[in-house]
Order: sequence, then C-alpha cells, then structure tokens
Amino acid sequence: MASFHRLLLLFTILCICTAESAELWSQFCNHNSQINSTQLSANIDSLLAELMSGTVQNGFSTISYGKAEDQVFGLAQCRGDVSSEDCSSCVEDASKQIRKLCPSQSDARIWYDYCFMRYGTNKFFGQVDTSVGIIFYNVENVTDPDSFNKELVSLSDKISSEAVKPGNKGLGRGKKQLSPFLTLYELAQCTRDLTPLSCDQCLAIAIGNFPIFCNNKKGCRVLHGSCIVRYELYPFFFPLDPKETLVNMPLKYYHSSTVHNP
Ligand SMILES: *[C@@H]1O[C@H](CO)[C@@H](O)[C@H](O)[C@H]1NC(C)=O
Ligand SMILES: *[C@@H]1O[C@H](CO)[C@@H](O)[C@H](O)[C@H]1NC(C)=O
Repeated sequence: MASFHRLLLLFTILCICTAESAELWSQFCNHNSQINSTQLSANIDSLLAELMSGTVQNGFSTISYGKAEDQVFGLAQCRGDVSSEDCSSCVEDASKQIRKLCPSQSDARIWYDYCFMRYGTNKFFGQVDTSVGIIFYNVENVTDPDSFNKELVSLSDKISSEAVKPGNKGLGRGKKQLSPFLTLYELAQCTRDLTPLSCDQCLAIAIGNFPIFCNNKKGCRVLHGSCIVRYELYPFFFPLDPKETLVNMPLKYYHSSTVHNP
C-alpha cells in the first residue's frame, strides 16, 4: 500500500514536470500585420495543422500555404535535445496558443522552453531575424562577477561554435564547473533554416545582450526569431548526468525586457 502511494506520488510529480516542460515563455504579435481576409485566416489555420504534423517527424519544418496575397509561410522547431514526445506536445500547444495570443495578426512568433513557432506573409526562411529580442533574467546576482563573466564568455564561444557545426542542427550546449557546488549550464539553438554563418551572426547578437541586460545575473534567456541562448546555474537541458536533476525554475522568478532592433 505504501509503495502504491509512492508510485502515485511519483506519477503526480512526473505529470507536473511534463506540464511545466512545455512552459510558454513569450509571444510576439506584429501589430502592423493585420489579417485582412478570411482566406488568409483559413490559410493560417491550415498552415498550423501542417506545421504540427510536419515537425513531429524530425523536430523541424518550414511550410507555405495558399497563394498570392493570402500565402503564409511558417516555421516550427523543437530544441535539438528534447524527446520527440516532448517535441510534439510542445508544437501542439504552440499551434493552439499562437492563434489565441495573436488572433488578428498575420505575423506572429511564439517561444516555449522546448519549441518555437513562427508564421508570416513574407518568405522569411534563411534570413537572420533579431528584430525582436525578449530577455528574461534571474534577479539574483552572482557572488564572484569577474571570474563568472570570464567563464561565461568562454562557454558562450564554445557552444556557439558547436551550434554552427554542420550536422548539429543549430544546437550547442555545454557546462563548466565553477566551484565544487556551482556549475554553469548554457545552451544555444538556431533555427535550422539558417546557414552556419547566419547562425553565428544571430548568436553573436543574442550573446551580446548578456552584458547589457543580464550583467552579473545568475541566469539569462535571450529569445530572437532565429536563435535563442540561455545560461543558468542549474541543469536545464538533456542529456542529464546521473547526478543531475532537470530544474524548471518558473519564469515568475525572472524579470524581462524587450528590445526592437532596426
Ligand atoms: C492585405 O494586406 C496585404 C499586405 O498589407 C495586401 O498586399 C493585400 O492586398 C491585402 N488584401 C486585401 C484583401 O485587402
Ligand atoms: C544586483 O546588483 C545590482 C547592481 O549592483 C543591484 O542594483 C541589485 O540590487 C542587485 N540585486 C540583488 C537581488 O541583490
């Protein structure tokens, strides 16, 4: 009986973790892009359905739907280290939420912990997009800024060069032990439509936000349309070492800023 209760408790915890794993981070609705025809609206719905089924296959898809002025282009991608189960549930959530959050815009983006989705009437595939930057930072400061920043710069370089390597699908991740009790974890992910050079450009801009918005902060997440970077002092990506437990510190412990680049 006791073990049954333990099992039940375990399941409850697992379920909470799964629900949190697809945490919605942010969205961007371009208010200069009104949906001006019922055909365009219908095309966005069809596009989202196709994106959903297309992305389950290999974690990434770009699709267009419709023609002439009612044509829409869409991209969906999961973080390269998440399972296909987590990927499909994230993309399913994203395709529902993006329409709710941006109901009358034809240019929209949505960022989750595990996936990203975007559509628009311009063919944006392959173009570096850092026009919008959404930054979340842990309000707590690190205790030893000088050595922390040195390690952050070197780990950022390392994961960027991993992300641009052909075959890595735009994903770079790594960690660095700072002390017996403290490890720095960092992940970079470009959208897979970018060339290595464009991925590198996007990540340079994203990482350039660290000293501006996240100086000496214990954690930072920078979201752009073409890439994201994130660092934390806890494990947040896969694979986990046997000693590590995935931590999902909710966004309410972070503050946010939004930048619009020309
Ligand atoms: C909708 O807006 C787009 C871009 O602003 C324009 O090209 C198109 O002609 C408009 N369509 C209608 C039906 O007004
Ligand atoms: C972190 O450091 C900044 C700048 O020195 C300071 O303004 C802020 O109050 C500190 N935050 C915390 C939570 O101690």
